[in-house]
Amino acid sequence: MKVLVIGGGGREHAIAAKLLEANQVETVYAAPGNAGMAFDGVECVAISETNAPELIQFARENAVDFTIVGPEIPLLEGVVDAFESAGLKAFGPTKRAALIEGSKDFAKTFMAKYVIPTATSKTFTDYAEAKAYLDEKGAPIVIKADGLAAGKGVAVAMTIEEATLALKEMMLDAKFGEASEKVVIEEFLVGEEFSLMAFVNGEEVYPMAIAQDHKRAYDGDKGPNTGGMGAYSPVPQIADALVETAIETILVKAARGMVAEDRAFRGILYAGLIATDAGPKVIEFNARFGDPETQVVLPRLESNFADLIWALLNNEKPDVRFKEQGVNLGIVLASAGYPDHYETGFEITGLDQISSDIKVYHAGTKLETGSEAKEQKFVSAGGRILLLETAADSMQEARLALYEEMKKLDNPHFFYRIDIGMKAE
Ligand code: AMP
Ligand code: GLY
Repeated sequence: MKVLVIGGGGREHAIAAKLLEANQVETVYAAPGNAGMAFDGVECVAISETNAPELIQFARENAVDFTIVGPEIPLLEGVVDAFESAGLKAFGPTKRAALIEGSKDFAKTFMAKYVIPTATSKTFTDYAEAKAYLDEKGAPIVIKADGLAAGKGVAVAMTIEEATLALKEMMLDAKFGEASEKVVIEEFLVGEEFSLMAFVNGEEVYPMAIAQDHKRAYDGDKGPNTGGMGAYSPVPQIADALVETAIETILVKAARGMVAEDRAFRGILYAGLIATDAGPKVIEFNARFGDPETQVVLPRLESNFADLIWALLNNEKPDVRFKEQGVNLGIVLASAGYPDHYETGFEITGLDQISSDIKVYHAGTKLETGSEAKEQKFVSAGGRILLLETAADSMQEARLALYEEMKKLDNPHFFYRIDIGMKAE
């Protein structure tokens, strides 16, 4: 089989690496992929993730059996719809189904209609009305840009001043452009967060092992929200019974609701959840694999990944089995200053020292040729540079081993959190 992965981040690196493990997969292409993927035997093609006509042409010319779309932007631009219209198999929701991620207002209205537990909220397009609502509700309170903002469009405000500032930035200063012309203001929820992803095909839901992301930039969950600074799976603080409740009251209801709305979902449905005293509630839905959760969840998949996706694409029952024992941990190396201003182009030294049993998933890296033509080096090229991942019997074992490896990448231009996974020990 030949498979095409659309995207070029750490998540896509993990998807491509897992596909390469499947015995029937001969070639994995990635568009645009990244330099690290090429090192692992993935064939990278220089086509942007949203260039549907060229992606389709490539898939046709190279007799690609199926395509997996990683990131949200191509999904929301309708790449899967375009592939389907061209008679090609692509795994991911259509544009209509991806709206569950693309508009927080849509997601909130949808959850209200299908009685899916989530924070109470209200949507605004007028600043004065939004401000009046803020003042009425008081802090702590949460303000979210309606549209996509790379995981950064959420302000959790502990005071009314912070909330007002966030609201002004979003609605009056267009901090996230069009994405924040509309905002959702919601109730502040308290509890342990976790990510529950599932393979979904219409009304059928096949859950994955749960994971926990670390969204804040700094240790102790301080600092601004990022795309994610590290993750681990499973999450022992979350009881199995609560996960079962979440599957029934959230994922299954959402899958059925999307079918009823004529937005049938086929792809990965990601529920960002919080375990409140009143049970699990939805913080957000995503229409794709989480990043960095995928880098720790896919290594736990025991069944053949290519078979699984192929079965879903053909409306057959997939074999979905996850490892029950041990843990997987992933730590992100980021550019100093991320998620705000940061510089790139710094050499990533120490990569050649990383132990061979550690997986390196690249995200924002680039291969540069040194002064000697043969000399090639990886340099930073984004906010999140790469992630190191390992499996171990216990979280402590995984953490100690992985931080020894992270030290090899120490560099004043980069940073990483030193507490990833600690909550699970
Ligand atoms: P999101 O991008 O929607 O996942 O939000 C980013 C982060 O903001 C979440 O991981 C939570 O830590 C926090 N957050 C979002 N919504 C709420 C809420 N209603 N109550 C408390 N924290 C929230
Ligand atoms: N890790 C959160 C996300 O992928 O949106």
